[in-house]
Amino acid sequence: MTSYTVRIESLDQEVECREDQNILDACLRNGVWLPHACTHGTCGTCKVEILDGDVNHGDASEFALMEYERNEGKTLVCVATPESDVVIDADVESEEGVTMHPVRDFEGTLVALEDCARETRRLVFDLDDELSFNAGQYVQVTLPNTDGVFRSWSMANSPASPKQIELTIKRTPGGLGTDGWIFKDLKVGDKVKIAGPYGRFFVRTAKEKPIIMIGGGTGLAPLKSMVKHVLEEDTGQTMHLYHGVRGYEDLYDVEYFKQLEADHEDQFFYHPCLSEEEGVEGTSHGMVTDVIDEDFKTLRGMVAYICGPPPMVEASLKMLMKKRLFPRDTYREDFFDASDKETGGTRSPLMRTN
Ligand SMILES: Cc1cc2nc3c(=O)[nH]c(=O)nc-3n(C[C@H](O)[C@H](O)[C@H](O)COP(=O)(O)OP(=O)(O)OC[C@H]3O[C@@H](n4cnc5c(N)ncnc54)[C@H](O)[C@@H]3O)c2cc1C
Ligand code: FES
Repeated sequence: MTSYTVRIESLDQEVECREDQNILDACLRNGVWLPHACTHGTCGTCKVEILDGDVNHGDASEFALMEYERNEGKTLVCVATPESDVVIDADVESEEGVTMHPVRDFEGTLVALEDCARETRRLVFDLDDELSFNAGQYVQVTLPNTDGVFRSWSMANSPASPKQIELTIKRTPGGLGTDGWIFKDLKVGDKVKIAGPYGRFFVRTAKEKPIIMIGGGTGLAPLKSMVKHVLEEDTGQTMHLYHGVRGYEDLYDVEYFKQLEADHEDQFFYHPCLSEEEGVEGTSHGMVTDVIDEDFKTLRGMVAYICGPPPMVEASLKMLMKKRLFPRDTYREDFFDASDKETGGTRSPLMRTN
């Protein structure tokens, strides 16, 4: 198989990249960290400029990489493969106190499978080696009986348990990975290929400000990892966790979070919100954004982490701006799926990508 050299001019680094490998993958596996979020050509976070050489743009969404951008020599490295030696210019900001872990391959053995909420499953995999990651990151799981098709799912466990990962996954009707596998014939004992860690949605413990977390549905997963990490590492931030779902049947880990709240009564506050059910004890009624709007006069001086379906993430960003919490202290993870690539579920042009 032919390999090419990819030079990242701005970092003064070079990696070898196979002709069938995306440039981001080659970089992340060689300890060269480039900004990325969705890793399937949908969000545009990994856009770079090609200074020299040719690439195949792969499966880049035409919304995330417009025709004029292709003509201007831009590409999305998460789906672009080299067709010659390539020189790229990437905008990489280093963050103080943050270690980025190289991507590696693991074999996972499913040791627990549970229906934890409506159309939602919790999966626990034992790994064949330790997976170092930052709380909030995700893994790619290769779907069985496919030609290397993978899906991204966020780890709900904290980095303190590196040989076992917990995933919580919602069924997507017609979805290849969920309807076609996890909710169909996946069983305890099955072995899967897992790669990670990916993403830049992780808790910044160096920021001492109080934290507000907003999770829609299984968007709770990376936030759970963050909450556990902050408490385990005793980094001291106050955390308000808002979990937005439709009805009580969609909530999960309620007892777990209530217990954390009792154990850390001045530090951790749990707010389950039901948009379609009223009068359920211990929950608020309304869209999670409206509940927060009511609860806080201002969010100035806080750090926000938002995760879930793209429309909920967008609505949350608007609400945060209104409450004086601006993009430099806002981190987001959009749970894009295959349909978003076709319909342009891209980031709001209003927002800087954190
Ligand atoms: C960074 C990241 C982290 C994530 N973490 C989680 C998590 O922790 N938990 C979780 O539940 N989800 C998570 N997701 C979402 C997850 O990756 C999957 O997208 C989701 O589980 C659906 O996968 P699927 O294979 O079942 O559906 P897909 O096969 O991707 O299909 C999704 C939908 O799109 C439709 N579709 C498929 N192809 C097309 C097409 N060409 N045109 C139009 N429509 C199409 C399908 O019919 C289906 O309705 C995450 C996503 C990202 C990007
Ligand atoms: S990370 Fe490449 S487009 Fe999202």
